[in-house]
Amino acid sequence: METKRDRKAWLKGGAAQCDTPPLDSKTPRRLVLLGAPGVGKGTQAELLGARLGACHLSTGDIFRTAKGLDACERTPAMTAALEYMRRGELVPDETVLALVAERGGCLGCCGGFLLDGFPRTVAQADALDKLLKEQRVKLDAVLSYELPLEQIVARLSGRRTCAGCKAVFHLEARPPKVKGVCDHCGGSLYQREDDRPESIRVRMAAYEKSTAPLASFYRRRGLLVPILADGSPEEIFQRSLEALTARGRKPATVAG
Ligand code: AP5
Repeated sequence: METKRDRKAWLKGGAAQCDTPPLDSKTPRRLVLLGAPGVGKGTQAELLGARLGACHLSTGDIFRTAKGLDACERTPAMTAALEYMRRGELVPDETVLALVAERGGCLGCCGGFLLDGFPRTVAQADALDKLLKEQRVKLDAVLSYELPLEQIVARLSGRRTCAGCKAVFHLEARPPKVKGVCDHCGGSLYQREDDRPESIRVRMAAYEKSTAPLASFYRRRGLLVPILADGSPEEIFQRSLEALTARGRKPATVAG
């Protein structure tokens, strides 16, 4: 079984600490992965994380972890957030920002980060700027994954997710070695509730309205790196690495 970073500090928040702390990289990568639901951000985050050593920080994974808790262990805001998520709607900025602020230390982590699913609105992007300043770090780039809608829907309908470590598989494009079992931790694989057709439609609409404008937000800051998300996960991963190399380690034009 391959080992995967446990991300406990990010997934649980509060005083939780990671069991496997990152190596202290001299050149930590700090990236945002942008793109429509199902385009493959989580898949690329896993591949990039394994190569670059940066931690995969997904806000969706925070909510899915909270879903596994007993109802009495969740705050009312989290219970409400899970209901938004089930319908495919965005969770209110206030709730998301409180969760991310509580995990601000993960942004300053010496191993770097790959933010996936955050920011998702201009208000969240502004808040991220502030959090990064507080941690005295800057974004290297925003990788923006682009693909036509029909292909995205096919990816979502075949997705299976690990209940334990949240690793992502696809029934055809990225099947697990043993049916229904996670390659990384041996956890069982399940289909996400928000991958039903009615939730997918709501998620796509929320993306177009609230998240797509972030492309111009980051283009203006000289951070946007568009990546064609067609082809196999490994091909897109290679494209991502090449785009990062081509960009070099040029600092952001505007402070993050
Ligand atoms: P979140 O968990 O962030 O979901 P998402 O953005 O909708 O993205 P997905 O996880 O669905 O897709 P992905 O791009 O990571 O694709 P993946 O790699 O899995 O958010 C869920 C919900 O939480 C939101 O709807 C909202 O309610 C709430 N939320 C979270 N953050 C929030 C925020 N900041 N503000 C407000 N609300 C927030 O790939 C998809 C499938 O395709 C997989 O099966 C994969 O194996 C397969 N695949 C990947 N690449 C390829 C390929 N190249 N070819 C074929 N198949 C592929």
